Amino acid sequence: MTRPKFQAPTGMHDIIFTEQGYFKKIYNIVENIANFYRFEKIDTPILEETELFSKGIGLSTDIVQKQMYGLRTKGGDSLTLRPEGTAPIVRAFIEKGMFNLPQPVKLWYSGPFFRYERPQAGRYRQFHQFGFEVLGERNPIIDAQIIQIFFQILKSLKLKNLIIEVNSIGDSQCRPYYKKLLTSYFRSRESSLCANCRRRLRENPLRILDCKEEKCQPIKAQAPQLIDHLCKECHWHFKEVLEFLDELEIPYQLNPYLVRGLDYYTKTVFEIFEDTEEGRKQGALVGGGRYDALVKLLGRKDVPACGGSAGIERIVNLMKGKKIRLRSFPKPKIFLAQIGNLAKRKSLKIIEEFRKAKIEVAESFGRDSLRAQLNRANRIGVKFTLILGQKEALEGTIMVRNMKTGSQKIVKLDKIVKVMKKG
Ligand code: HAM
Repeated sequence: MTRPKFQAPTGMHDIIFTEQGYFKKIYNIVENIANFYRFEKIDTPILEETELFSKGIGLSTDIVQKQMYGLRTKGGDSLTLRPEGTAPIVRAFIEKGMFNLPQPVKLWYSGPFFRYERPQAGRYRQFHQFGFEVLGERNPIIDAQIIQIFFQILKSLKLKNLIIEVNSIGDSQCRPYYKKLLTSYFRSRESSLCANCRRRLRENPLRILDCKEEKCQPIKAQAPQLIDHLCKECHWHFKEVLEFLDELEIPYQLNPYLVRGLDYYTKTVFEIFEDTEEGRKQGALVGGGRYDALVKLLGRKDVPACGGSAGIERIVNLMKGKKIRLRSFPKPKIFLAQIGNLAKRKSLKIIEEFRKAKIEVAESFGRDSLRAQLNRANRIGVKFTLILGQKEALEGTIMVRNMKTGSQKIVKLDKIVKVMKKG
């Protein structure tokens, strides 16, 4: 087959047919849970000022350094296709004065996000996320509830072997000292680190803990751990989060190397994976944590916050391997066959009457012969075929054929919906 002249851009894809079914199933479950926990839906623009992301996510992060799709408008503004949803939500929170509302403000969202990444398993350049954010609450119960919400959603989607990894990365009280410790530890071993980590050592040594290179693993394993250097407040907070998770009987693993790829986190961070070959290949399904300093960084108000988001394509990829029932169109009970121009002209109106009566009708306007239309009706497996020929159209009647018995009867056109409702 020759390649079509136009294809979807690299790392981007169409969502059609059964794929839409998976998305719909996920959105239904997410929306039900969001309503139950009283999260308000928020949609933010696809484009934001570039500085919102460079400041919010952090200049030294991979997202800001390598993965943003930026553009300059005709007016000269520098805008960026949103690579994530948290910074835009914080922007909206500040811009709309949501700190004046009763706190906390609980928001949820879903939609497309864009990162210029090397396409590979579970990694796309346009992907979809759903997310939950709670702004204006410091209590660790929120961190546990956010984790619980994502865990419940994934379980409702029949994903099994889920692993929740949690860590605390401290705050402005304890992290600077730990960073110093870490820097001096890695600096004395700099020559054994990979090239990327040597750069990270200058820009953000914490991120070395996230390195997957074979070479860096033994050095990482001996590195000082932040958990041993948390300040009193962060230590208490983390202990509380874990106790809430225990209470909820949510299984989790402590991962001292979990630091996340965005700079805005404080205290709790978490990720959720499926522990299968496919799951490990793709990476985390959900990532999130607390970001108590982001609102202040972007808008000078001191508002603690916590949230997370999930990658929908990664979830869909895992659902595909399981026998998950997807709801398609309801099976129609009726097929409307039409023969001749006058009948065809009347058909659209008849179908509209059935729609109002909530009765599903199939048709095949492109086929003119009765035989071809009956074949189609048989294949669909309808109970009745309604046959509207030239004669019936002129007389204001329609023939009802019972597809099982083959019996036929004539019914007045203005009574057909009523008759079918009973049938
Ligand atoms: P993130 O870890 O960058 O966090 O992304 C969250 C999830 O989005 C990932 O776990 C993954 O499932 C999915 N994802 C990320 N990049 C891609 C990609 N290129 N292709 C497919 N899926 C991808 C955030 O975005 C934060 N805003 C999460 C958050 C919300 N933290 C607090 N609130």
